[in-house]
Amino acid sequence: MKKEHEILFTPFKIGSVELKNRYVMGPMGVPAAYDSTGALSDTGIDYWVERAKGGFGMMYTGVMLVDYKVETPMGPTPLQNPMGFRSRALLLNERCDAYGAKIFAEIGMGMGRNYPGGMAPSDVEVFNFPQFKGIPLTVDQIHIKRDEMIEAAALMQQSGFAGVDIHTIHWGYLIDEFVLAITNHREDEYGGSLENRMRIVKEIIEGIRQTCGPNFPVTIGLGVKSFIKALNKASLTGEEEAGRTVEESVKIVKMLEEMGFDAIMTDTGTYDSFYYACPPIYMPKGHGIDLYGPIKDAVNIPVLFRSKMGDHDMCAAVVREGKADAVVLARPSLADPYLPQKVETGKIEKIRPCIGCNIGCIGALGETGAPVSCAVNPRTLRERETLPKKALCPKKVMVVGGGIAGMEAACTAKRCGHDVELYEKSEVLGGEMIPAGAHDFKPEMNQLTEWYRGEIRDLEVPVHLGCEVTADLVVQKAPDAVSLALGASPVVPKSLKGTDLPNVMTGVDALTNHAKLAGHVVVVGAGQVGAETAVDYARQGCKVTMIDALPGILSTGFVPCQHKMMLTDMLEHYGVEVRTSTKLAEIQADGVVVEPAEGGAQEKIPADHVLLCIGLKPNASLRPALVERGCDAAIYEIGSGRKNGNVLNAVHEAFEVAYSL
Ligand SMILES: Cc1cc2nc3c(=O)[nH]c(=O)nc-3n(C[C@H](O)[C@H](O)[C@H](O)COP(=O)(O)O)c2cc1C
Ligand code: SF4
Repeated sequence: MKKEHEILFTPFKIGSVELKNRYVMGPMGVPAAYDSTGALSDTGIDYWVERAKGGFGMMYTGVMLVDYKVETPMGPTPLQNPMGFRSRALLLNERCDAYGAKIFAEIGMGMGRNYPGGMAPSDVEVFNFPQFKGIPLTVDQIHIKRDEMIEAAALMQQSGFAGVDIHTIHWGYLIDEFVLAITNHREDEYGGSLENRMRIVKEIIEGIRQTCGPNFPVTIGLGVKSFIKALNKASLTGEEEAGRTVEESVKIVKMLEEMGFDAIMTDTGTYDSFYYACPPIYMPKGHGIDLYGPIKDAVNIPVLFRSKMGDHDMCAAVVREGKADAVVLARPSLADPYLPQKVETGKIEKIRPCIGCNIGCIGALGETGAPVSCAVNPRTLRERETLPKKALCPKKVMVVGGGIAGMEAACTAKRCGHDVELYEKSEVLGGEMIPAGAHDFKPEMNQLTEWYRGEIRDLEVPVHLGCEVTADLVVQKAPDAVSLALGASPVVPKSLKGTDLPNVMTGVDALTNHAKLAGHVVVVGAGQVGAETAVDYARQGCKVTMIDALPGILSTGFVPCQHKMMLTDMLEHYGVEVRTSTKLAEIQADGVVVEPAEGGAQEKIPADHVLLCIGLKPNASLRPALVERGCDAAIYEIGSGRKNGNVLNAVHEAFEVAYSL
């Protein structure tokens, strides 16, 4: 281990519980972790055990909503099946304890205004659904929910958990909604002054202390700054704060300490500013550290820093400098369950980085409805069904294409013991990850590319760079299986006049070559690539206009809402002119001619440069030629060469095919 990281492997205490190191796995709600009775599933137990093995000293469960008496629960709650819940939880805790990891159960009182139909302190508009309002709770209903929280804490104690976490004064969930003045308009004892808005928190902890005794630690999360200008309106810069300020948070944490909480877990944001709450790749690592400082200074109980803390040097520094007692890593633990162990053994470069894409994790949970997973780690929440294995009959495998799908396929096949060779027609591995990582506000993209290159090297996969594979070569090599990961190329419409002019480039070419542009840039296409490219050149000082024939931006492919919200605010912040429902008719040497998508008069937008970001199309497949030649190999097509997709699609399908060879 590097000397400077040793501090991360020193023990510390939360209440009476000693934790072996400063690495805390963050709470993440994962539906697959529970069965249809509300007890922990095998999937859930394996998921936490893997992270206990990987070295996390402390782990949180995701929120378990406990109320079933007031609101209709989303699924069975632990209180409805206490015996079943307890027996599976005892097993989980026993197994994780074998690795020295302690688990805190996060229990929740409600989702509040974050989902339509939720009950709330007041009838405030629901996030993203202003036509709905929260249903105000009566005082009796508040008391029932409070008592369920206390009962649930006792159940968690009996179930072997080391402590509980009260979900939460963050993200605008029910308790946060009570505490935030902007969402609590009550005139009774639960509204008005900060003391009144905090009353529910006080009553819960007092009840837990009475029921569970003084030696059962209780923690709570706090969003120390909301970053909102209004409900449903984020503040990119933090100005015009209409939610919680750091000053108010300082008062809150003093109250929490006084009430008897044993630790506080900090982050920022609410759903209204979702890109602070669950930050996309564009948000710098450690973005909250300076805001958390006054919190740590105000209390004597441990403060755990959460949200984009996945950089080991930064983590070590905040603990060493006494700014934080521990660091909470949520998504980084999905990307690499063995992160702490790799830091401890000095194998930093082996850590698979979370790229803040939000596709497999929060995007699945909140938007697509797919099972929670991780884009870059296909084993996450499939730990048992994807155990490392060695093939009984190793096969000769050719992987054609060294983009992310090809690299994942080559690594997985090699780990399974196959005889793999990787072919790439350019001089470097990375494929579409190279332009995707060209923006300085997306550093994790390059870290992932580097990680894959390192794995290929360490696994000693022979790599043939500058080698364009033909059907003849495949037939000559006679593999048992060939994975075609041929990638995709930017669309340049042949029918469009002016695409061959010198002022025209694809966005992919501009990014790959780090093209230095000046003057007026017109970006054609307002998908994720177009919007990122527009922001990039605007940040570099260009005047940028982004046009799209569609009525909205970021409306093609799956772009998680945190990315949509942040890119939209970045476009505005950097002064990009966005013109939707605007169709490109022709490119000229000094500009573009556009017309309304619905038809109408043409207009010229002057431009020094035109960047085409109108999508990618799969490169021509080698399959027909291989079939024609009677190639005996099993042929698999993966990644963007098969169909348009994202990082998750590429990695997961490459893994699927290579693992099952
Ligand atoms: C899939 C997913 C589910 C989450 N569920 C919870 C939850 O149940 N309770 C909670 O307090 N935070 C939850 N969070 C928030 C995380 O604990 C964390 O604050 C957030 O991911 C940012 O931290 P990170 O950069 O370390 O991932 C969730 C995050 C994700 C990605
Ligand atoms: S899906 Fe993306 S953001 Fe989520 S944990 Fe995996 S890499 Fe990180």
